Amino acid sequence: MRVFSGIQPSGDLHIGNYLGAVKQWVNAQSSDALYCVVDLHALTLQIDPATLRTQTDDLVAMLIAAGLDPATCTLFVQSHVPYHAQLSWLLECVATYGELTRMTQFKEKAERQDGYRVGLLTYPVLMAADILLYQTEQVPVGDDQRQHLELARDVAERFNNRYGAVFTVPVGVQPPAAARVMDLQEPTRKMSKSVASPLGTIYVLDSADDIARKIKKAVTDTDGEVRFDWEHKPGLANLLELYSGFSGESPSAIAARYHRYGDLKGDLVDLVVTELTPIAERYRELRSDDVALRQLANEGSEKAEAVARQTYRRAAEAMGLQ
Ligand code: TYM
Repeated sequence: MRVFSGIQPSGDLHIGNYLGAVKQWVNAQSSDALYCVVDLHALTLQIDPATLRTQTDDLVAMLIAAGLDPATCTLFVQSHVPYHAQLSWLLECVATYGELTRMTQFKEKAERQDGYRVGLLTYPVLMAADILLYQTEQVPVGDDQRQHLELARDVAERFNNRYGAVFTVPVGVQPPAAARVMDLQEPTRKMSKSVASPLGTIYVLDSADDIARKIKKAVTDTDGEVRFDWEHKPGLANLLELYSGFSGESPSAIAARYHRYGDLKGDLVDLVVTELTPIAERYRELRSDDVALRQLANEGSEKAEAVARQTYRRAAEAMGLQ
C-alpha cells in the first residue's frame, strides 16, 4: 500500500499534528511509505529564510524522534525533489480557479492579510502534486486536510479522463480519535501552528510542568458531569479525544471511568508526559548532529526523486510536452 503525507516546517510540532498525523505515519510506515517536510508550502506565508532552513532540520529530527525510521520509510524534504513544483504547474492547468477560491483554508488565511501571495491560492495544487507524484493510495492526515484531499482526487480524475490514466486516485485516512484537536483555551477553534495561543497549544517539546499547567488550566464547563458530548461540552470532549489519542481507548469508555474533571486531567497529564518525554530526549540527541541529519534527509530525497521522476515524465508526455 503506497502511503504519502506531508507536514509544513512552519512552527513547532504540537499534539494536534502529532495525534492527527505523525502518530498515524509511524504506525503506517513501511518501505512503501513516503513522508515529506513540505518547505515549499511554508513559503505561502511570510517566513524568514534562515528560520525556514532551521525549522526544516528541526522537523526532520522531530519526525525521526517521534518514531519514523529512515531505514524503513522514505523521509525527505520537498524542495530537494524538483518534480513537486514542476508537476504542480501541469496540475494548475487542470485545476480551476473556482475550485481553489472555494477552499476554506484559503479563505480563512487570505482574510487575515492584505496582498496575500498567489501561492496561498494555488497551494492545494502543489499538495495534489505531492500526493500524485508517488501514485499514492492512502494519505494519513488530520481532519483539516479533507477538502484539500478531495481536490487532489478531483484533479487526478480529471487529468486521467482528459489525458489518459496516469495517476492513482488517493484516499485520505483520519485517525479514529483526535483527528481534529482543538485549542485548550478555546475548544471551538483548531489547535494551530500559525495562530499563537500559548496556553491553548501543547507542543511535543514542552516540559512536563508546562504540559501539566496547560492541561490543568484547559477550559471545561461548570456542570461537572463527565460525558463525551462535543455539542454541549467541547472542552471536555477535546480532553477525552486527546486521552483517546494517547491511550487508544474510546472517548466514551474513558468518560465512563471518571466522575471528576480533576482526576481525568491528572491522568491525562501522566499519559501525555510519558509519551512525549522520550521523544523530546531523542530529538535533542538527533538535533545535536546536523551533518548526520542532513545526510539522512538527502538519502530520503534520492529515493523519493527516483519515484517522482517516473510519474512526472508520464504526466508531461500525456499532456503533449516533448
Ligand atoms: P500541516 O503542516 O498544517 O499539518 C500537518 C498535519 O497535522 C494535521 N493537523 C492536525 N490534526 C489534528 N488536530 C489538529 N489541530 C491539527 N493541526 C494539524 C494536519 O491535518 C496534517 O495532517 N497541507 C498540509 C501539508 C501537506 C500535505 C501534503 C499533507 C502538503 N502536502 C500532501 C498530505 C499530503 C498542511 O499544511 O499540514
